[in-house]
Amino acid sequence: MTRFLELDDVRYAFPGRGEVVLDVVRGVSLHIAHGGFHCLIGRSGCGKTTLLKLAAGLLQPHSGAIALQGVPVTGPNPDMGFVFQTPTLLDWLTVLDNVLLPIALHGKVQAAQSEKAMALLDQLGLKDMPSRYPPQLSGGQQSRVAIARALVNAPPMLFMDEPFASLDAITRSELQQDLLALCQSQGTSVLFITHDIAEAVYLADHVSVMQAGVLCHQLAVDLPHPRLPALRYTADFNARCAELRQAMDGSP
Ligand SMILES: Nc1ncnc2c1ncn2[C@@H]1O[C@H](COP(=O)(O)OP(=O)(O)O)[C@@H](O)[C@H]1O
Ligand SMILES: [Mg+2]
Repeated sequence: MTRFLELDDVRYAFPGRGEVVLDVVRGVSLHIAHGGFHCLIGRSGCGKTTLLKLAAGLLQPHSGAIALQGVPVTGPNPDMGFVFQTPTLLDWLTVLDNVLLPIALHGKVQAAQSEKAMALLDQLGLKDMPSRYPPQLSGGQQSRVAIARALVNAPPMLFMDEPFASLDAITRSELQQDLLALCQSQGTSVLFITHDIAEAVYLADHVSVMQAGVLCHQLAVDLPHPRLPALRYTADFNARCAELRQAMDGSP
């Protein structure tokens, strides 16, 4: 396995204001293979978002090491794409311009880049909507635009923090399917946070369970690819969900 993203014994505490400061991330080691899809699950407040921010260089660890493709991570870089829980689109830009924003911020958009953005919109079922504005889209469509924007530069590493948490179940499963296909076709490595156990099992080839700042359980999801909707109703799938549920219910 080629290690792509590596976190080794990472620790982090938010600066306190006089009170006792507890580590929010406590000695976490996590390795994501090239092209791997890694899900991080855990209850609210256990440190998932903080860990993602550390991995992406948005926060600096107090100790431990983080490297992407063997290079220490000191800040966000163009090899990384981000999707957060709220799509954070700019309401005054069209769908196409929102997708092209990461490119437009660094200079003039080339024709080939517009074509790439249109191809992504096509793959995400938004082919007919490049000229719409975000308030004219449903929540699911806005999430799709955010995914297209994160992938427009074809970043080898994608960070996603509960991107589908506010969507209905059917829209969510459609987006899961599209995301898997896109990451597969681009060879993207993914760190995906969710608190939805079934979502983690469906998407991931590895799941880590986080509790109170530590990774308390690891699961290699050896289910067949491509993942197909019928998988969700199999005994194999449910056995993995049950294992993770038990790990989340256990003490850290
Ligand atoms: N900016 C901050 N300053 C102080 N404490 C924070 C800050 N952000 C998060 N925390 C605390 O760190 C812990 C982990 O937060 P977070 O990583 O957002 O958890 P999760 O994403 O799993 O819900 C929580 O107890 C939260 O209150
Ligand atoms: Mg969070």
